[in-house]
Amino acid sequence: MEDTNKRIKVTPQILKEKKAKGEKITMLTAYDYSIASILDECGLDTVLVGDSLGNVVMGYNGTVPVTMEEMLHHCRAVHNGVKYALLIGDMPFMSYQISKEEAKRNAGRFLKEAGCDAVKLEGGVEMADTFAEIVKIGIPLVGHIGLTPQTATALGGYKVQGKDIKSAQYQLDSAIALEQAGVTMLVMESVPDRLAELITKKISIPTIGIGAGVNCDGQVLVINDLLGLFNKFVPKFSKQYANLYPLIEEAVKSYINEVKGSKFPQEEHTFKIDDEVLAKLKK
Ligand code: KIV
Repeated sequence: MEDTNKRIKVTPQILKEKKAKGEKITMLTAYDYSIASILDECGLDTVLVGDSLGNVVMGYNGTVPVTMEEMLHHCRAVHNGVKYALLIGDMPFMSYQISKEEAKRNAGRFLKEAGCDAVKLEGGVEMADTFAEIVKIGIPLVGHIGLTPQTATALGGYKVQGKDIKSAQYQLDSAIALEQAGVTMLVMESVPDRLAELITKKISIPTIGIGAGVNCDGQVLVINDLLGLFNKFVPKFSKQYANLYPLIEEAVKSYINEVKGSKFPQEEHTFKIDDEVLAKLKK
């Protein structure tokens, strides 16, 4: 008999069907093999190698400095841990803005060199033509509107987007333009919940919220925030499902103390040599 519970690789089509059925879509970021393997084993729908890598892995003060090479390197690591989830690579700042040719070439590198299934790009109406060109060559594309961290300075900082009529209209127009450009899915970051809900109802492609309320078709969080790996700033929209920072701190301090006090390693961590062999060496 056929096993109907057998997991299959998640595709853009499956995500669209989930939206149609009202089934929520789950997405988290990952930057390395170990975490990616756990996320995939847990049954997550999509894994995003976000350019939040700049903040949480590289220690930059934002996403702007992140390079293509850094993104591809981490996408390759995550790809090795992901069997079923749709793997999305985030295109870094200035890898798709200069020309459509460069955008297509760089988007292709995420699939060819790093095993990604799709790429994510930030931008609204003004980027729709570029997005359409990428989609036309067969690369599934995830859009990102609302607060777009790569251009946060131009937006006046890390602020909620779409609160006044002009800004809300721009978000709505952008969502529609990206849908028409053939985008597979749309991330909405820091957008009022009722605007996100309206956009979600207006477009046929799945919306993924981060700080966009519960009525998006799915949700995404940065894995480091979810796991509580920081003891400093946590964004309002984020939820810590674990607080690993003090646990890691405690483990590392115990290790330091045990090494200093010759309490680690113990017998069970140690390899042995025969007395005879040792005696010969000592001669
Ligand atoms: O870079 C990232 O991690 C992201 C998500 C927060 C959507 O863009």
